[in-house]
Amino acid sequence: MSAPTMTSSQNASQHRTAVLDAEIQQDPAGFRMLTGDRPTGALHVGHYFGSLQNRIRLQDAGVDVLVVIADYQALTDRTLQADLPEVVTGLLADYLAVGIDPRRASIFAHSQVTSLNQLLLPFLSLVSVAEISRNPTVKAEVTTAGLAAMSGLMFTYPVHQAADILFCHANLVPVGLDQLPHLEIARTIARRFNDRYSPGAAYFPEPRALLSAVPVLLGTDGQKMSKSRNNSVPLRATADETAQLIARAKTDTDMVIRYEPERRPEVASLVMLTALCRGCTPQEVADEVGGRGAAALKTAAIEAVNERFAPVRARRRDLAADPGYLRAVLAGGNERANAIADETLGAVRSLMHQQY
Ligand code: TRP
Repeated sequence: MSAPTMTSSQNASQHRTAVLDAEIQQDPAGFRMLTGDRPTGALHVGHYFGSLQNRIRLQDAGVDVLVVIADYQALTDRTLQADLPEVVTGLLADYLAVGIDPRRASIFAHSQVTSLNQLLLPFLSLVSVAEISRNPTVKAEVTTAGLAAMSGLMFTYPVHQAADILFCHANLVPVGLDQLPHLEIARTIARRFNDRYSPGAAYFPEPRALLSAVPVLLGTDGQKMSKSRNNSVPLRATADETAQLIARAKTDTDMVIRYEPERRPEVASLVMLTALCRGCTPQEVADEVGGRGAAALKTAAIEAVNERFAPVRARRRDLAADPGYLRAVLAGGNERANAIADETLGAVRSLMHQQY
């Protein structure tokens, strides 16, 4: 898959991201960031370079960070399994191992925050079925998951995601291109709520997208790297597992390694992964491997990943050995999220004249 082609509105979003980045540097305390992941498997190197690194950068800059473990959203295309608690604590271990710091960031699961979920009802009243139907990301997910029918939850999950974002008055949402339509729905809901129930003094901020600049890394099968596609290099993989995974990655028959993302996406992705791990340019990696071909490129990629993530993996092993600590971190995050959500729901009821 080649890099997604940008539409003019996506270009505009990228411009807004540059402006926003400068504002964050000026006044980090003026921002609250909300983002998150579905608990569907292990976080991988694509997550790290595509979003986790960015979250840590914002946290370290002094932005208030909230991270949602989207366990209801995981229900859009699967049935949850009895091993969900282990998946959730595994996700927590991934977060903490890469440097999300529970003293500065709150990690919570949205199923544990009752008032957040109740916001779905008023929010649903603010969008039309036609608007939700147009969402290209929902359509793509239905197709990718090969679902015979779309559940009501799948159909409305962008509205639920708006509740994730707005319950805590987040004004900053770091996302990939595919999430922009959802952010647009959240902004629409905030605006309409304010117009209808709080004219004069906006109650909800319109959250802004911070687009991640890093290109999507491909999975070992040449498709988008995804924790549910079984084609990723997990952060928690051992050095040996990493070697096995990268050794089987799809490449091509051209012996000379060059960085040509349009023409040779699989090779370019391995070059990029190596460059990201080493902190150099893809061009430097391609020049170094050159005529030694795909096997040498894979060796370089394996070494680079293993070296870059050795400290993260060591920390993660320690964290995984202490599930009680991981559960306590989540309980703390849930507690804070509940306090915020209860206050928001109280204000929303009051603005909607639902106090009797
Ligand atoms: N939709 C996101 C994903 O699939 C996860 C998510 C849930 C999220 N709620 C969110 C992301 C709120 C940003 C903000 O990866």
